[in-house]
Amino acid sequence: MLLHQPIYSATVAGPRRYVLLLPTLLLLLLVLWPPLWWYVVRSGYALLPPPELSRHYVVNRSLQDYLDKIGILLEPKESPCGPGKDAPIIIMVSTTAPRTGQRTAVRETWGLYQPTLFVMGIYGDRDKQLAENIREAEEYHDLLVFDFRDQKENQTLKTALMMKYTLLRCPIAHFMLKTQDNAMVNPWMLNKVIWQHLDRPLVGYALNDTHLLRDEYRKGYNAGKRYDDEMPTYLSGAGYLIKGEYIEHILRGALHVPIVHLEDVYFTYLVAHKHLGLVLTHDSRLSPFKPWWKAGCVYWNFASLHGLTPAEIYHAWSCIETLISKYKTIAGVCQYFNYCFGWFMALAVY
Ligand SMILES: *[C@@H]1O[C@H](CO)[C@@H](O)[C@H](O)[C@H]1NC(C)=O
Ligand SMILES: *[C@@H]1O[C@H](CO)[C@@H](O)[C@H](O)[C@H]1NC(C)=O
Ligand SMILES: *[C@@H]1O[C@H](CO)[C@@H](O)[C@H](O)[C@H]1NC(C)=O
Repeated sequence: MLLHQPIYSATVAGPRRYVLLLPTLLLLLLVLWPPLWWYVVRSGYALLPPPELSRHYVVNRSLQDYLDKIGILLEPKESPCGPGKDAPIIIMVSTTAPRTGQRTAVRETWGLYQPTLFVMGIYGDRDKQLAENIREAEEYHDLLVFDFRDQKENQTLKTALMMKYTLLRCPIAHFMLKTQDNAMVNPWMLNKVIWQHLDRPLVGYALNDTHLLRDEYRKGYNAGKRYDDEMPTYLSGAGYLIKGEYIEHILRGALHVPIVHLEDVYFTYLVAHKHLGLVLTHDSRLSPFKPWWKAGCVYWNFASLHGLTPAEIYHAWSCIETLISKYKTIAGVCQYFNYCFGWFMALAVY
């Protein structure tokens, strides 16, 4: 009897231990998930560019040289900021030709509420793309197509072209929002953010002490001279605001700063902050993430979110629309007049 006792308990302890192990692991994962996630976010690993970066900036890292050479192939006949129009904000959406699903989602949701333009270069076959672009532009009047190869490493040029266009065709815009076609913008919250930072040159989600660990990224344009692996601070390219009167200042400043591939690092840190000494304002409502907790209408609390599929954009929008349903009449009037910053102001203050 005494001899059997330990053997008996030992055979039971085995499976029992496994039974306990699983929930413990799950609990551990659950507890560790937010810090892990946060680490990934902070260290910027998610922002790593693909390894196939080319070496083309080695040839010339002068932005001016590129801007002078790149022509505009398509633009709306009528500027969204033409005479008699008020454009407190213009939204520049970075996209590529094949991403029609994302553009449609934006057009049918948040893009309705303020001047929103889609900016792209040439992605595949030039003639084929332009034929499709012309058809799309005739229907929606919201495409800006520039004559450059639309690759990851050319994003800096794309943002520079957005700024140049805004400066030329929409100088009355109080703010330009640079964002992407997988973003969810909440026009109401965006208004509130702007309203609260009216005199700030740049507003966005500040990523601090980010490791840009990447030989590929460094090699291409920085032969000989090592770049700091650590960026003290920059605003995430998922969505940042530039105050209108600083656009020219930043573009001019950029002519003295050699180009790097990452447009957000380049314009917000290297040019605006480091070279020109402009203050970067952090606002977590311009989020470079999407909520992984989708209960309720979390979307409402953000001015922009990033990384959404078209289906997710429609979903987020429907919940935002439900929330504003009591303002439906105002929204309808707004849509009728096209842009309605003033109304948003009223709502934001309300
Ligand atoms: C690079 O661009 C600058 C400014 O436009 C120009 O003066 C220079 O000659 C260019 N260098 C090369 C190697 O093309
Ligand atoms: C854009 O990227 C492509 C592919 O890497 C490169 O060949 C090209 O020179 C870049 N610049 C422009 C202005 O298209
Ligand atoms: C980055 O630093 C700024 C200024 O010190 C701070 O306001 C901001 O909260 C920081 N960003 C994040 C994501 O913590």
